[in-house]
Order: sequence, then C-alpha cells, then structure tokens
Amino acid sequence: MEVIITDTVDEIGRLGAEAVAQLVSRKPDAVLGLATGSSPVSLYDDLARRVSAGEISLRACSGFTLDEYVGLPPEHPQRYRMVIEQDFVSKVDIPSESVHAPDGLAADIPAACADYERMIRDAGGVDLQILGIGSDGHIAFNEPGSSLASRTRIKTLTSQTRRDNARFFDGDLDAVPSQSLTQGIGTIMEARHLVMVANGAGKAEAIRNAVEGPVSAVCPGSALQLHPHVTVIIDEPAAALLQFQDYYREAWAAKPHWQGS
Ligand code: GLP
Repeated sequence: MEVIITDTVDEIGRLGAEAVAQLVSRKPDAVLGLATGSSPVSLYDDLARRVSAGEISLRACSGFTLDEYVGLPPEHPQRYRMVIEQDFVSKVDIPSESVHAPDGLAADIPAACADYERMIRDAGGVDLQILGIGSDGHIAFNEPGSSLASRTRIKTLTSQTRRDNARFFDGDLDAVPSQSLTQGIGTIMEARHLVMVANGAGKAEAIRNAVEGPVSAVCPGSALQLHPHVTVIIDEPAAALLQFQDYYREAWAAKPHWQGS
C-alpha cells in the first residue's frame, strides 16, 4: 500500500487525477469506479481541468458508482447518480450513458444488485476505483460488520453515517435514507487499482484503522491491506494518527520516477 501525505486538498485531487490520467493514456477505454461524497471532488475538478486543457479525454471510458440510496426519486439532487452527474460527468467528456449506478428504486432489489455485478463484469471489471472513507471506516456503504467478501447488496446505514450525510440534505436527518445499495467489499477488491482519498481530522481515526489497524470487518476500509495495488492520498490532518507517517513521506520522496501510479 502506498500512502501519500500532502499539504492541501487540491494536491490530493491532483495526485488522484494523475493516477487516472496515467491509466487513460495507456487504456483510453478504461473502466472507472466512481465515489461520491466530498472527498473526491478535488480529484474530479482536476480531471475536468485536464480534459478542458486537452491533456486527456475520457470519451471512451465508462464508469460505475460505488453505491446508491434506496428510495430517492429520480430527480432528487442527492441521488448518487445525480451527484456523480453534477460532480464529474457534467465537467468532463465521458458520455452520460456510459456511467452507471445501482437502481435504488428497483422493485426487485436482489435482481438489481445481481444486474449491477453483471454489468461491471461485462465491462471487463473496474480498472481504477476511486474511494473515500466514512468516519466509521466504511467504504462505499459497507458499514462496520460488513463481510469482507460481500457483493453488491442492500445495506442499512449506521446512525453515524446518516448524521454525517445529513449535511447534504440541508441538515435534515429524517431526509437521509436509511438504506442503500452498495458494491460489496469483495466487489471493490476486484478493481485493479484502488485510489483512496481523504482529508481532515474527522477522517484520522478511520485512516489509521484502515491503513495500520488489524484487517477486520470492524473497519471495512482495512480490507484494502489485502489488495496488491492501493494508493491512499491524504492530507496532514487525516494522516495525524498514523504510526509510520515519517516512513510514508520518505518513501514518497524517494519514489523512482519510472514507477508511475
Ligand atoms: C458516503 C459514501 C462513501 C464516501 C463516504 C465519505 O457515505 N457512500 O462512498 O466515501 O460517505 O464521504 P465524504 O467524502 O463526503 O466524507
């Protein structure tokens, strides 16, 4: 696992976007795994800048969101398919119809989850998965206690996650759905490269548990320790509780140029 500690959120975005840009330069039709939430916004903005500058094109790429709330109407601004449209798709040149999300309004939820797994498989699997992390260590909506081998399924949100996410619903906790459809940890682990971004002191404990804690369903993010290609890009406050932060800085400073993302 590579841990990169940066000074600013913009730098997190730049380094995350650099990993996507390197991928797309060698594989123009890459399959991108797309996280919602505030953490990846600077990464999406940096990709938008690169697309506008003509440095890269995402026209041949496709995308899959990690998760979706259950029950939000199609036009709801917090439906994750809408959020990703606003935060990413509308800013770059990826065709909207190439970006998919689980169907949070499906009448047959197990079938919708199986369909989503099939769509990812049919696309050839995710090349690069962008991830945030919840303050309780969740990835996508895999809350603590989620099976580390789980597949796309319905998941009930913890009260902490609902409280954290109430800020996106004008602070109205009752408006935050209590369930989601989420890629499982087993699904996420099949992506070829995982890029986790996090910032702020509120993520310090989750980052410590994910990067240096025991691999345990108590912290779903800790499953990343079992993946052969993970890049964690964080700012100083999010890194504050890491035991080996000096080593991560030294390794990053000494990284051979040819190694790439
Ligand atoms: C949400 C999403 C996750 C996201 C996490 C952190 O609940 N389902 O994919 O990583 O919370 O969000 P944020 O980046 O806004 O802190």
